[in-house]
Amino acid sequence: MERILVIGGARALGAAVARRAAEKGYEVVIGARDLAAAQLLAGEIGATAIHIDLQDETTIAAAADRLADGIDHIVTTGSAPHDVRAVELDRDKLVGAVTAKVIGPMLVAKHFAKVLRPTGSIVLFSGVVGWRPGPGSLVKGVTNGAVEYLARHLAADLAPVRVNAISPGVVDSGAWDRLADKKAGLLSKSAAGTLVGRHGETEDVVDTVMWLLRAGFISGETIHLEGGARHKTA
Ligand SMILES: NC(=O)c1ccc[n+]([C@@H]2O[C@H](COP(=O)([O-])OP(=O)(O)OC[C@H]3O[C@@H](n4cnc5c(N)ncnc54)[C@H](OP(=O)(O)O)[C@@H]3O)[C@@H](O)[C@H]2O)c1
Repeated sequence: MERILVIGGARALGAAVARRAAEKGYEVVIGARDLAAAQLLAGEIGATAIHIDLQDETTIAAAADRLADGIDHIVTTGSAPHDVRAVELDRDKLVGAVTAKVIGPMLVAKHFAKVLRPTGSIVLFSGVVGWRPGPGSLVKGVTNGAVEYLARHLAADLAPVRVNAISPGVVDSGAWDRLADKKAGLLSKSAAGTLVGRHGETEDVVDTVMWLLRAGFISGETIHLEGGARHKTA
């Protein structure tokens, strides 16, 4: 049985990946800052929960020690958005955003390199904003763009372990529920900005993650899961 660690696995896309992986017969480890939430989901799907905070290297090192008998795949969904204009930047939030998407996953690679089986893989999360500059998208854009390079360079560094990234467009993952009555507007605007005329669904992402885990001839790539949004000109 292959073992998969899903960081950020207690909610939204991470939780959906953990659920599907459990259904498909993987041994699932849910890594999250909120250990209670991870334990709750783990109990429901027959997984294990582990405390991992991408901002805290000691938790990453401890998780790697706990899983020292081997791991096949790591999926990391961690994200700490700081959606402001340049003049409004807060240094700590900026560092937090870069850490969740870039530095944290690098430290995951550092500590898990010895634990990952050579046939295994890492799946990182980028996002379409990396290719769509705009006011207020500076931090998200740069961190998502950096993830594309992280996948490339980490793939070369960790080979033969495969490293890839998924760059979703707007996905109704649960994360947007915080917008309350403004969510429908965001989803319809994003649907209009694609070639396929719809927003993304959680299942689109989960299907792509499950495919990447088995796509043994793909490494260092970013999969653009956004309905052709980057190609829509008008
Ligand atoms: N949904 C979309 O429309 C969309 C679009 C483009 C890209 N993406 C990317 O897809 C990924 C997943 O997004 P999502 O929709 O599932 O919602 P999300 O709210 O962006 O999920 C972020 C996840 O990261 C975790 N996290 C944040 N900081 C962390 C840290 N320091 N250590 C460990 N975990 C941390 C959160 O867990 P906590 O419960 O601890 O906060 C949560 O599970 C993100 O990278 C996001 O940028 C999503």
